Amino acid sequence: MYFEFSEEQLMIRQAARDFAQTELKPGVIERDEHQRFPAEQVKMMGELGFLGMMVSPKYSGSGMDAISYVLVMEELSKIDASASVVVSVNNSLVCYGLEKYGTEEQKQKYLVPLAKGEVIGAFCLSEPEAGSDATAQSTTAIDMGDHYLLNGTKNWITNGSTASTYLVMAQTDASQRHHGINALIVEKGMPGFTVGAKENKMGIRGSDTHSLHFNDVKVPKENRIGEEGFGFKFAMTVLAGGRIGIAAQALGIASGAYELALNYAKERKAFSKTLSDLQAIQFKLADMAIEIEASRLLCLKAAWLKDKGLPYAQASSMAKLYASQTAMKTTVEAVQIHGGYGFVKEYHVERLMRDAKITQIYEGTSEIQRIVISREVLK
Ligand code: CAA
Ligand code: FAD
Repeated sequence: MYFEFSEEQLMIRQAARDFAQTELKPGVIERDEHQRFPAEQVKMMGELGFLGMMVSPKYSGSGMDAISYVLVMEELSKIDASASVVVSVNNSLVCYGLEKYGTEEQKQKYLVPLAKGEVIGAFCLSEPEAGSDATAQSTTAIDMGDHYLLNGTKNWITNGSTASTYLVMAQTDASQRHHGINALIVEKGMPGFTVGAKENKMGIRGSDTHSLHFNDVKVPKENRIGEEGFGFKFAMTVLAGGRIGIAAQALGIASGAYELALNYAKERKAFSKTLSDLQAIQFKLADMAIEIEASRLLCLKAAWLKDKGLPYAQASSMAKLYASQTAMKTTVEAVQIHGGYGFVKEYHVERLMRDAKITQIYEGTSEIQRIVISREVLK
């Protein structure tokens, strides 16, 4: 077993670190405050190859491994989780899903521009009444011969108004339960497709979260991904990889907050000492360091399994559950170490604390990860 990164992995990590410092950091507080989507920065990430990281060069991707993806997600998320969630959704839900299960025509038409970062994608599973219980889909895709007639509402869709390509899960044959669900590629601008109001959120406020409405949208049959009724399996398979991305996002939020707290503790004076001379603070930093390292190892293990073509769903759920827990704990302690300064925006840790919370909710809540893990454990 080697605990070493390759030259290429170290280079891409450094590129992400530099990008985060020079391009993401300067406007991050303002974007959070005004809920502004990082459009310019997303365009640059496309140019750097971050939006199609694991896509084969044959489809204009960067052809990197999942380990590199974890490294990039960690670095971006240390600074701006609203930007990194775009990278996560585009790479592991949309591009991966299209590359693994799409037809050659679908790959040429949709995957290539997504991998180049010319457009971004969205993954649409959740509904007002179907979140954790994702099989309870109410959105319908009625088979009309050469097309499906799509009707319904999707909730909480990341990149909701900024995406061009939407992968939408919908029920075609309710009698087949989850085996009657299809995954359809829907384009922005298809008649009957409208984007609802933007959500006003606690965290990742720069991310663009909307409900989507489908009213008699005609989706051509050639836009179905996989066989008839494959949609739920598609969603579950893709989410197993997506959870590695969100785990790495949580890891980045935690390590970003830890680095800030560590530096602050070395500078701030109290009782004629620096905070870092106080054992109470040292112990907090020690606990943070251990939990972050454990989260990092879980993320890398899940990515390694994926790269090797081995089963990784349980490992990705473990990584997401543990890293998101670590993100929450670490950011709360980072605010505490900063004292009153931690409570105001310019020290960044309060934003990281708000951003951490979503990692315990999206792509399957912590309770859902425990269900996935315990089912495997009890098999
Ligand atoms: N890979 C492939 N197939 C899988 C799978 C996996 N990892 N996990 C489950 N399945 C399959 C099962 O094999 C089963 O198919 P068969 O009947 O053919 O065997 C089917 O899915 C249904 O599985 P279950 O019987 O286990 O269904 P369930 O209803 O008891 O539980 C669940 C399923 C795990 C709770 C699932 O509903 C789930 O993951 N819920 C959470 C939903 C979620 O993560 N949403 C995220 C939305 S995207 C998002 O959030 C993006 C973002 O924020 C940025
Ligand atoms: P519910 O399912 O109603 O859960 C409520 C509570 O009950 C949770 O604590 C949950 O863990 C618990 N619970 C539910 N069932 C069980 C059980 N069986 N056992 C124990 N506890 C249980 N979805 C997408 O499809 N695409 C996206 O791009 C996307 N982006 C998102 C972005 C944001 C900012 C947010 C907030 C959500 C996003 N989601 C997206 C939706 C997200 O995946 C769901 O919010 C999540 O899966 C939980 O569903 P829910 O909100 O309906 O909560």
